[in-house]
Amino acid sequence: MKLLVIGSGGREHALAWCLAKTDGLQKVFVAPGNAGTAGERQLENVNITDLDALADFAEEEKVSLTVVGPEAALAAGIVNVFRARGLKIFGPTREAAQLESSKDFAKRFMARHNIPTARFATFSNQAAAHAYVDRQGAPIVIKADGLAAGKGVVVAATLIEAHAAIDRMLPEPTALLPDGANAARVVIEEFLEGEEASFIVMVDGKDVLPLASSQDHKRIGDGDTGPNTGGMGAYSPALVVTPEVHARTMREIILPTVRGMAAEGIPYTGFLYAGLMIGRDGSVKTVEFNCRLGDPETQPILMRLKSDLLTLLEHAVAGRLDQVEAVWDRRVALGVVLAAANYPDTPRTGDAISGLPKASEDSYVFHAGTIEQDGQIVTSGGRVLCVTTLGDNIKQAQKRAYNTIIGIHFDGMQYRHDIGQRALNR
Ligand code: AMP
Ligand code: GLY
Repeated sequence: MKLLVIGSGGREHALAWCLAKTDGLQKVFVAPGNAGTAGERQLENVNITDLDALADFAEEEKVSLTVVGPEAALAAGIVNVFRARGLKIFGPTREAAQLESSKDFAKRFMARHNIPTARFATFSNQAAAHAYVDRQGAPIVIKADGLAAGKGVVVAATLIEAHAAIDRMLPEPTALLPDGANAARVVIEEFLEGEEASFIVMVDGKDVLPLASSQDHKRIGDGDTGPNTGGMGAYSPALVVTPEVHARTMREIILPTVRGMAAEGIPYTGFLYAGLMIGRDGSVKTVEFNCRLGDPETQPILMRLKSDLLTLLEHAVAGRLDQVEAVWDRRVALGVVLAAANYPDTPRTGDAISGLPKASEDSYVFHAGTIEQDGQIVTSGGRVLCVTTLGDNIKQAQKRAYNTIIGIHFDGMQYRHDIGQRALNR
């Protein structure tokens, strides 16, 4: 049996690593993969990114199931392309992926279905956006409509910052976004207070299987300072997701979303990630939807998965998620991202990586922005590695991760020293 994982990040390395444990498996192809997936038994990188070429490859190699990591491939319609050719794939269609690819779609959908989220308004007119912000006051949140790798959001503490963000995201009057694809729009949102958590589920169109909860660390600096990133570290489970919060999230957010999408004729299949803001009073609001697994959340989540991932995926693709359960390691898993110099701005690449440790039962270094060059593993992207460990408690997992990092080196390496601290401070 052969499987295919689409993507090249730490999330995809973790997916492929987890799938490689399947009994009777021949191979997991990773397209395009990274130096970590290249170096592992049973994994093989394939250097293809074009959607039709990927479908050709899956057909030729008789791949039984494809799993998609990144949102870009989903938003481009990889699931539509594969399904049209009768190829099994787990992910949302292009239409369903709008829950992530268009903030405007997501916000309007949530409004239609009474799904709790921040109040919002959408603008393509700069003057109207400025006037709205003046009326609302700060703090306020300005978001570019469209995929922005977690970097198209400004949480403005002052009106000056808010106006500057509008000027930057909404060029006057009819200019195009940098990729030239869409007319620019911004979503302006009410600022939500509380603690964030990542709530990720598998969906088969109608049934939902929740994965273990987790918490990301989005800012580059210790103590949640500095600019937003794709995520600098995560741990699972997230203590803030109490059984009550879990139940409320399923009842108020996840199930209405899955039912609402089906009712609107866009059934949702794939991983669905609700970014939650959990208030002091236990209320839960949706900060955002992602139409995929989180990165780096996936690394600690999958480290705790004791069930066979392929079995879960097969049930999902067959529309039988109601017939399966996921079993989780009782231990805590924690992942610390090691990022390249200059990240989250344009990262420097080509720095040689040394001191990568051997994997063990409770510690694994997932690769992201790495490639092999002349027999040496070097950096090739912003987030380079994710050192992920298991421990009996958060403190032990944290200690293990930071002890492992001591041996790893590349020039310009930056990481947060406080991953998991929020759980310790509770
Ligand atoms: P997003 O790309 O929508 O997930 O936003 C990135 C980050 O900005 C989130 O993880 C939050 O930390 C913050 N954020 C986004 N929207 C809001 C909001 N309405 N209120 C407070 N913080 C927000
Ligand atoms: N870690 C946040 C995300 O994957 O969007």
